[in-house]
Amino acid sequence: MKTPVITLTLICFALPLWSQASEELATASNCLACHKADAPLVGPSYQDIAAKYKDQDRAGEVLFESIKNGSSGTWGAIPMPANAAVSDEDIKTLVDWILAM
Ligand code: HEC
Repeated sequence: MKTPVITLTLICFALPLWSQASEELATASNCLACHKADAPLVGPSYQDIAAKYKDQDRAGEVLFESIKNGSSGTWGAIPMPANAAVSDEDIKTLVDWILAM
């Protein structure tokens, strides 16, 4: 009987920690120089990106490619340069974090 309660408690504590870790990763990876979660900056807000891609099957792959190799023409006139210094592992974490917004 106690297991579900413990599991729920763990999830409630782990989710904010995960979200905070990802925000630190976004800061460390320089993403937040051009992006904000809830408002456009140089690039689109992460919430707008999540809303645009949430129903697409290949959203994770598309965003992974965009972050890794750069992107232009999808959101406006300003292109996003390739984020060559960010590891594939970190890009995957950032994509999951953005799509969960
Ligand atoms: C120099 C500014 C800049 C930096 C740094 C930057 N971005 Fe972007 N980002 C943009 C712009 C501008 C766009 C819109 C590009 C377009 O219209 O195709 C964009 C688009 C995106 C998209 C949507 C791509 C698509 O295919 O729709 C994602 C996801 C994204 N950025 C995530 C990130 C992440 C994660 C980082 C950090 C590793 C990052 N960005 C760093 C400026 C930036």
